[in-house]
Amino acid sequence: MDEKNDPPTAKPEDEVSAASISVQMVSAEDKLAKRILARKKHDKLKKKDKLLWNFQNKIILFTLILFILGVVTWTLLWLFIVQAENKDALYFVGLFRVANIEFLPEYRQKESKEFLSMAQTVQHVMNLVYTTSSFSKFYKQSTVSEVSNNNNGGLLIHFWIVFVVPQAKGQVLCEDCVAAILKDSIQTSIINRTSVGSLQGLAVDMDSIVLSAGLRSDYWSTTGTGTNCVYDLYADRLHEHFPLDTRATSEGTICYFKLIASVGHLVRLSIVSLQIEADNCITDSLTIYDSLMPIKDKILYRACEPADSLVSLVSTNNLMLVIFKAAQVKEQKEFHGYFEVITQEKCGKAIVTKEETGYEGKITSPYYPSYYPPKCFCAWNFQTPQKSLGIALKFHNYTISEKNIKGCERGWWKINERMYCGYYVDHQTVFHITSSAVSVELQCSSKVSEKPLLVEYGSYNISQRIPCTSHTFKCRNNICIRKQYARCDGTVDCVDGSDENSCSCGSSKISNLISRIVGGSNTEEGEWPWQVSLHFVGAAYCGASVISKEWLVSAAHCFQGSKLADPRAWRAHLGMQTQGRARFVSAVRRIVVHEYYNSRNYDYDIALLQLSTPWPDTMSRLIQPICLPPSSHKARSGDKCWITGWGQKQEADDEGSAVLQKAEVEIIDQTLCHTTYGIITARMFCAGLSSGKRDGCKGDSGGPLSCQINGDGKWFLTGIVSWGYGCGRPNFPGVYTRVSNFAPWIHKYVPSVL
Ligand code: ARG
Repeated sequence: MDEKNDPPTAKPEDEVSAASISVQMVSAEDKLAKRILARKKHDKLKKKDKLLWNFQNKIILFTLILFILGVVTWTLLWLFIVQAENKDALYFVGLFRVANIEFLPEYRQKESKEFLSMAQTVQHVMNLVYTTSSFSKFYKQSTVSEVSNNNNGGLLIHFWIVFVVPQAKGQVLCEDCVAAILKDSIQTSIINRTSVGSLQGLAVDMDSIVLSAGLRSDYWSTTGTGTNCVYDLYADRLHEHFPLDTRATSEGTICYFKLIASVGHLVRLSIVSLQIEADNCITDSLTIYDSLMPIKDKILYRACEPADSLVSLVSTNNLMLVIFKAAQVKEQKEFHGYFEVITQEKCGKAIVTKEETGYEGKITSPYYPSYYPPKCFCAWNFQTPQKSLGIALKFHNYTISEKNIKGCERGWWKINERMYCGYYVDHQTVFHITSSAVSVELQCSSKVSEKPLLVEYGSYNISQRIPCTSHTFKCRNNICIRKQYARCDGTVDCVDGSDENSCSCGSSKISNLISRIVGGSNTEEGEWPWQVSLHFVGAAYCGASVISKEWLVSAAHCFQGSKLADPRAWRAHLGMQTQGRARFVSAVRRIVVHEYYNSRNYDYDIALLQLSTPWPDTMSRLIQPICLPPSSHKARSGDKCWITGWGQKQEADDEGSAVLQKAEVEIIDQTLCHTTYGIITARMFCAGLSSGKRDGCKGDSGGPLSCQINGDGKWFLTGIVSWGYGCGRPNFPGVYTRVSNFAPWIHKYVPSVL
């Protein structure tokens, strides 16, 4: 730029004088003259330079074009990536059986032309199915990842389907919808009545189709290059142990072991030891599938914590997949086990019992002592030598109870035409059948493998039974005993112990209930033995109630958000009156928040916590479970109950109480509760005093509202401290979760609490 055009920036404007301007003018003119002279001098030189200049320009132009081109490509690429990122790739993994094609050993080699052509045929069929479906605009591709033989004949095809969906529309593609398209495309003929139909010319077994959403990482690992820790292991020698050992590397590990037994056999995997971090399978896990790909519905077993005792699992077909996942290693993480090829077992037999009464033999679940697979059927036929002898069955750590309309989640039993559901408990139970000919059937119906079952059997004398009348007590095994009030009287009268089952709840050793919480008073030690203080990263945060040796009930809102939902951050303090002086502290193994919990209105505000260590019996003076109200229990307005907790004593406080506080409150009419708050659901009720004064407050959440609902002095967990407008304000009572609504839900996770 020429200097004369430069503004006089050196001085502030108001200080510019005429002299200074003239000086500048002179100097500018001077320079101009010099420049003109110089230009004339250099004109000749310039001509010489022109050629050179042309060359330089070309280079500059060229670089400029290159630069622009670079920018354009980069922008396009970026746009493309961003575009792609706004869309979600959704992965589905599944399998089906093709009945009419024979397996070729070449299918094991993924590079073989046989595998490639088979894969292409199937992929072509899948393309046809999905490109003509309502999801066609999202469908990207299908990839066949395994073609294997199997015990049902024909080929078992494992495949992935990939969809690319705009983020907002992700939910459209549900697992069932994607599976339904496949199933609907199969034409089954009614004539031959098999489940095998034609899928664009492939004879696909309708009943074999399983499909579930899969992980991107699993997709890449099993179809391409995601990890180098993928093993295909084939075994045919029966009962030989083939070791499986893996150790996590420092960056974290995912290993896939595909185990395939010779046709007609099954795979048994034994876990010898597993060293992982116990974090609810968030980062570390060992998962065993009843397939060759990670299909959720085919999970046989999942370990989320370290294990040393031997657990073994059996497949339902000749294949199994074991995935070991471990995040970055601080400590050693490893898995040791082995697998075997085993023969299929027939389950059940005919048994004639001896004349003497008493247990004489045992029957077990299939493949005992392995976990039994999800598909099984066993039939035992017992015959006693005399009409006067019936059959007694003693279930180890298991009980059966008559099936209701809901059906059984973990397998069902049919005993002489009556249906029962089975539950795992922590004691033995005895079941008597008053017949000399007894047929017992076990049908597995759970989705995963179940713990092995052991049942002792023998004959017993039917004639020794007494008839059931209104003066007898009917035990769970249908035997009546001559003691009308046998229930919870402290002596076991029924052989199955059912008269004293779940009696050990709701009894407080101290019952001098003179009456802080808001408006409360100090409690005595051992007065509320079910009260728990839940500490989140070291500080008291919520309350909870003991309901069994290893389960607590609390409020769902205490675990809202990823940090609070992590069981590792919590400690349960039991048998405590003053903060810091707990008689027993346990880590938390699992948090089960109710699946319908609504964080906007606190509906379904309930959660279950499983302790890592059950509390010891020696503590039972200070730790006791509270009874759960039956579904039929209705909390009536006016009923007096107690709230307890270490929460704030006043709304304005910013600290909880050191000593456990108690306060008596009254259950408030539901309509009044509704008119007060508006958003009261059937899962909530109000309790307090109309004057306010006594109430729960911040920090009491999750803790119990304990009521004595019968005349027998037993305490029931009628409510869970949930929410309220402020604390102890007049006409704004506390809102509690109605626990009687959740008896079946709790029972699902804690079958031993009845
Ligand atoms: N939600 C509160 C907590 O986190 C307790 C609410 C009880 N409030 C009441 N006024 N009763 O501890």
